[in-house]
Amino acid sequence: MSLLTINKLTPSVGAEVLGVDPERLASDESLGAAVLDALESNGVLVFPDLHLDPEAQVAFSRRLGAVDHSADGHHPVAGIYPVTLDKSKNASAAYLRATFDWHIDGCTPTGDECPQRATVLSAVQVADRGGETEFANSYAAYEAFSDEEKERYAALRVVHSLEASQSRVNPDPSPEELARWRSRPTHEHPLVWTHRSGRKSLVLGASAHYVVGMDYDEGRALLAELLDRATQPDLVYSHSWSVGDTVIWDNNGVLHRAAPYDPDSQREMLRTTVLGDEPIQ
Ligand code: OGA
Ligand code: MN
Repeated sequence: MSLLTINKLTPSVGAEVLGVDPERLASDESLGAAVLDALESNGVLVFPDLHLDPEAQVAFSRRLGAVDHSADGHHPVAGIYPVTLDKSKNASAAYLRATFDWHIDGCTPTGDECPQRATVLSAVQVADRGGETEFANSYAAYEAFSDEEKERYAALRVVHSLEASQSRVNPDPSPEELARWRSRPTHEHPLVWTHRSGRKSLVLGASAHYVVGMDYDEGRALLAELLDRATQPDLVYSHSWSVGDTVIWDNNGVLHRAAPYDPDSQREMLRTTVLGDEPIQ
């Protein structure tokens, strides 16, 4: 019998996990592996009304793998990063406007780090309107290709940059901003990520800047078309947050974005990031 009670939320992505509480997450040694298994099959796991406190969130995230500490200092609890547009709660809030576009976390690392394995987000304060988090299954996006497309796109390589994602939400940067974006190295990734499991997913989203060896505009148009196909409403799970919800996503197999919300909103999510060890290849 499975350790978790799981209800699928849409046919292609997302499932709700019922019957766990913070005590069980803290004490049940076998839950880490069960959650990772469920994440691999469902892409996104929703734990409604969990009310995990920040320390417990970090402890639970550790059951899934090593926790990222590179952004420590924005929250009193090590391992926690506040996701909010409120600059008084997070000094780097301006960068987070890029969460409004579809993306995969960690496609433009500062070094050669692999993309994060999973991201855990808990709602402390929700937006009055909007602010859902939307998820699309990037394995399903690959599977939806015809055989001919699978062949055509197998060798396609894409350069990802921080400039590409930031310029969408800040199209008129100051020279200093532009220089800061450009100081982050760009990364060339295959369009199709072949995972250790043998599964294949698409690497798309706001950081995808241009297609190697293709006319710039033609490449941009292709990236936009593929992203549009991958994120059709019938392939998306949209999570409407209530305070106390925790959501985990498999960053290897889903694209995500925040639905628009008022930039002056008090919306605040606490994030922990589980480091990955699988390069995009
Ligand atoms: C993130 C992110 C989306 C949201 O934390 O990486 O993309 O809805 N968040 O806040
Ligand atoms: Mn993100």
